[in-house]
Amino acid sequence: MSDFEARLAATKATLEEIAAEFTPAVFASSLAAEDMVLTDLILRNQLNIGIFSLETGRLHAETLGMLDAVKNTYGTAITLFKPEAAAVDAYVQQHGLNAFYDSVEMRKECCRIRKVEPLNRALAGNKAWVTGQRRAQAATRTELAVQEDDIAHGMQKFNPLADWSEEDVWHYIRSNQVPYNPLHDKGYPSIGCEPCTRAIQPGEDVRAGRWWWENPESKECGLHVVDGKLIRIKSAN
Ligand code: ADX
Ligand code: SF4
Repeated sequence: MSDFEARLAATKATLEEIAAEFTPAVFASSLAAEDMVLTDLILRNQLNIGIFSLETGRLHAETLGMLDAVKNTYGTAITLFKPEAAAVDAYVQQHGLNAFYDSVEMRKECCRIRKVEPLNRALAGNKAWVTGQRRAQAATRTELAVQEDDIAHGMQKFNPLADWSEEDVWHYIRSNQVPYNPLHDKGYPSIGCEPCTRAIQPGEDVRAGRWWWENPESKECGLHVVDGKLIRIKSAN
């Protein structure tokens, strides 16, 4: 068995264990490449793990297009969690549509309204959640475990692709004809909301296009918390 096949077998085993022993469990999909690998593994093998996306209202059209691609390929619709309309309206009215460029506080408040609060709603009532995070994605993820005790959300958190390389992800996608976000072919290795993500130049850190105007120390996404602390993105951009 090649190293890749061993990692794939371990990932499948982890997903099967989650489906069998942590019901109900949900997978948070950003619709990016890693998450399409997990979507394919879950839906092709009919594993009992729900799939949701946080539809922030600011995603690229290409990312939204992946919702149809998943429906057409697997016959399953991804559940969407959207921000509370009143909270979005109040933010936009008070601060402006793109106030996240003005300060780290304004950026975090937008992420809180559009991502963190909907995530809490999506996770409520589950025993475990699954993410597509990988160790190689960022300096802050080098210690990422396949299974974590998510104290903040009071459940187990699984990162079944923790030890996959970027090549592993693309090898899986190409050999299984998994649909993927066309932005990946246009210089976007990491994709978040449209106004907060840009293409990177060759040689740049894979997360350099995320919140590119901010100091690396302030790049907290708010979705991933370790030991009760928000992860700080210390990527070398
Ligand atoms: S982020 O926290 O900096 O935005 P990143 O884009 O690397 O994270 O994604 C890491 C994981 O967080 C994804 O594999 C996915 O599990 C989850 N995630 C990120 N964005 C979303 C989203 N919009 N909806 C659901 N899950 C998401
Ligand atoms: Fe708002 Fe940007 Fe955060 Fe998306 S990534 S929720 S647009 S600040």
